[in-house]
Amino acid sequence: MKDKQSQWLNPVIEAKIDALLGQMTLLEKAGQLTQLGASIVGGFDFNAFLENPDPEMLKNVRRDFHEDWIKQGTVGSYLGVQGAEEINRLQKIALEESRLGIPLIFGLDVIHGYRTIFPIPLAEVCSWEPELARKTAEVAAREAAAAGLHWTFAPMMDIARDARWGRIAEGAGEDPCLGSAFAAARVRGFQGDDLTDPQHMAACAKHYIGYGAAVAGRDYNTVEMALQTLHEVYLPPFAAAVDAGVATFMSAFNDLNGVPTSANRYTLTEVLRDRLGFNGFVVSDSNSIGELVMHGYASDRKDAGKKALLAGVDMDMVTESFRFDIPELVEAGVVPLNVVDTAVRRILRVKFMLGLFDQPYRSNSAIETAAQLRPDHLELAREAARRSIVLLKNEAGILPLNKTLKTIAVIGPLADSPADMLGSWSFTGSAQDAVSILSGIQSATGAEVLYAQGCAADGKQPADFSEAVEIAKKSDVVIAVVGETARMSGEAASRQDIGLPGHQEALLKAIWQTGVPLVVVLSNGRPLALPWVAQNAGAVLETWQLGVQAGPAVADVLFGAFNPAGKLAATFPYAVGQVPIYYNRPLTGRPASDFWFTSKYLDGPVEPLYPFGFGLSYTQFAYSDLIVTPGAETITIQAAITNTGSLAGEEVVQLYLRDVTASRVRPIKELKGFQKILLAPGESRTVTFILNVADIGFYDPEMNYVVEPGLFNVWVGTNSAEGLQGEFWINH
Ligand code: GLC
Repeated sequence: MKDKQSQWLNPVIEAKIDALLGQMTLLEKAGQLTQLGASIVGGFDFNAFLENPDPEMLKNVRRDFHEDWIKQGTVGSYLGVQGAEEINRLQKIALEESRLGIPLIFGLDVIHGYRTIFPIPLAEVCSWEPELARKTAEVAAREAAAAGLHWTFAPMMDIARDARWGRIAEGAGEDPCLGSAFAAARVRGFQGDDLTDPQHMAACAKHYIGYGAAVAGRDYNTVEMALQTLHEVYLPPFAAAVDAGVATFMSAFNDLNGVPTSANRYTLTEVLRDRLGFNGFVVSDSNSIGELVMHGYASDRKDAGKKALLAGVDMDMVTESFRFDIPELVEAGVVPLNVVDTAVRRILRVKFMLGLFDQPYRSNSAIETAAQLRPDHLELAREAARRSIVLLKNEAGILPLNKTLKTIAVIGPLADSPADMLGSWSFTGSAQDAVSILSGIQSATGAEVLYAQGCAADGKQPADFSEAVEIAKKSDVVIAVVGETARMSGEAASRQDIGLPGHQEALLKAIWQTGVPLVVVLSNGRPLALPWVAQNAGAVLETWQLGVQAGPAVADVLFGAFNPAGKLAATFPYAVGQVPIYYNRPLTGRPASDFWFTSKYLDGPVEPLYPFGFGLSYTQFAYSDLIVTPGAETITIQAAITNTGSLAGEEVVQLYLRDVTASRVRPIKELKGFQKILLAPGESRTVTFILNVADIGFYDPEMNYVVEPGLFNVWVGTNSAEGLQGEFWINH
């Protein structure tokens, strides 16, 4: 079967593109390369909307669509237009009032749901269930496509090893193996098997590439890394997206080793086209072409447009350089016409694959309304939310909560905050659709539920914990819901201190002083450094930002209707001073020990608070009988897992590898496989992994991909820090 990317090369469509290219003027070609933002010219308070996203606030927005440019045939795409009616109205102008009637493609950030907002991607990946991610992406596409959209700027697949970086919330964490599985699943969910299906949409692999490695975790900052690291850690999810047939890529804001990724010929052409065989098109990130001037890489907008187009960017998001400058550059002989034609071809290819020439009006307001917030969508949202929750601590079985409890105190700034349950990149959702954690608890128990906010999340107001302490003293258990607001992570939301913001830890300490059992429920968009919480809370539940069904899902876990099985996809540091910290790191020549001259800190541990892959269950699992069977092409690794507890539960069995001696130092562990299994109490099952010898290689100092002979260690375990260890030799 042809691979997904070569399915994009359909001779009938290519012939139609040839015919169109033959008719297009240079200005019309430059227009196809142009994406306009639906620029807002009035009736909208951006900050108020960010604080409390409500689609009603968008109804009074006045926008300038440059409809005259559509009639001239010099716009190819819009971002930010919502609603089937508005999209159809603009599409009609393009089809009926422009010379060639080439349809527009409408894109928007549909990152973790459209109106049914699902858990943020960093939460969902903790399910370690790519199929779940495919399903939520499929529903997101169904609702967004019903609202007229053709294209989402998702999935974001930036590997992130630095929790100070706010956009860690949007991706799949720190690991290339897990990140690749989720990247491919989300692409398949958004796109389906046939892009002409009006319930699917084109996906976008972003931000290409290395964006998550911003120095000091400061968003948009410079990125330096070895090419080997780029290819072994940051590229795999993008390669998996290409193999899954992704239709588009988005170049990023950051420079990579001094060359901005939106004008980087090595990554955009030599790697993405020549090595990976990508046949869709690349859009720049928002004004990232214009920002080449600020980077000091281009002298002006025209120079920026030239460099971006020649490097391999096909569509210009809102800089308008391609529209205004490319014709002049072609006429001056600076940019070859065939480069423009190639970019136009790639964009028209996606428009044909979407069926926009045959079905330019893919929805209407009736279809749009019927598709939003369907009961089955909400059921999936609750299921995805439950499966994203990670149990980090459960001392003396304080969880699940006992049914006989008489009084429960719910305290904290995130307990009754529906808007914050939606997380970043949820502006198409509505806080009114979200169920708060307090509501979820109130609906799930017959106990008396007392509530106090305790303090604000941001600490801007003076703290008075008296009401919180008072209700704690009256209760059998305190559920403290603390963490970050939706705006404390996501784009441009880097933090220097990744503890609990404001007075929240002081609030927890005041509650803890009462001696009442304390359950801490975290709602946050990044790993947090919480040594006091880890040490003193009776139980800790990481719930991230779970979307519209946050409340019911958290209650399902707290009261035992669902046995949590999530595993961390990003390391939780003990302190921000450890960052960047990640599990798949080299050992160094002086690993930390009691000896003075070793790789350690004077003022804190080397080990993280919670390692990659960590997560507990209400039951317990035992690992035994590891068998490693090396073959010429594959290595078979088996282990038995037993549920030794009294409850049925799911376990994510993880396979890690280490190349012990190599021509470049290798990580002490690399995730090479995972399987999630459900075991009844007392049940045992043998899990089998098949490792291909070809997949255990790395890039040597000369950038050759090699599998070198020698000793390899393997582990099968419940997280990256524990497991049964075995070994095998590669002799050739
Ligand atoms: C933003 C983001 C990108 C998003 C684009 C369009 O700045 O970096 O992820 O898709 O602009 O909204």
